[in-house]
Amino acid sequence: MDKKVVELLNAQVNKEFFSAYLYLGISKFFTKQDLPGFASWYKVQAEEEQEHAMKIYDYLLDQDEDVSLDQIGAVNIDCKDALDAAKAADKHEHYITEEIVKIMDAAVEAKDYRTQLFLNWFITEQAEEERNSKDMIVKIEMLGNDKKNLYLLDKELGARK
Ligand code: FEO
Repeated sequence: MDKKVVELLNAQVNKEFFSAYLYLGISKFFTKQDLPGFASWYKVQAEEEQEHAMKIYDYLLDQDEDVSLDQIGAVNIDCKDALDAAKAADKHEHYITEEIVKIMDAAVEAKDYRTQLFLNWFITEQAEEERNSKDMIVKIEMLGNDKKNLYLLDKELGARK
């Protein structure tokens, strides 16, 4: 495989694990806010991010490439409230979309059609991730960014498996 494509995919494994870590940080914030439904929703999201990382990990090994398991960055998010946390998640998803697009650009340049097909899943997934993170902001804004108002949404979010 093209060296740059492999490097970017490797870096993305790390970024997806960092995403899991970030969502765990957000989940922890909500646990401490006594909003267990929100906490559970973001914990499920953290698990999804690990799946994303493992998809790329498996792909690289399937192509007989190596995977570097680099250090995962620390999470130091300091959320003021639910809306702040939702906005942090939304900002991160837009960043991840940009990173996926960079890998796609490199794969196109390298005429690596197999990786382009592989990345199609991530392009679609990022559209869903951005929609979900935006929906969360809209819901919090509609209900009012106050713990009492968030109680009903907390029940709804807790249902996510
Ligand atoms: Fe793996 Fe939320 O993007």
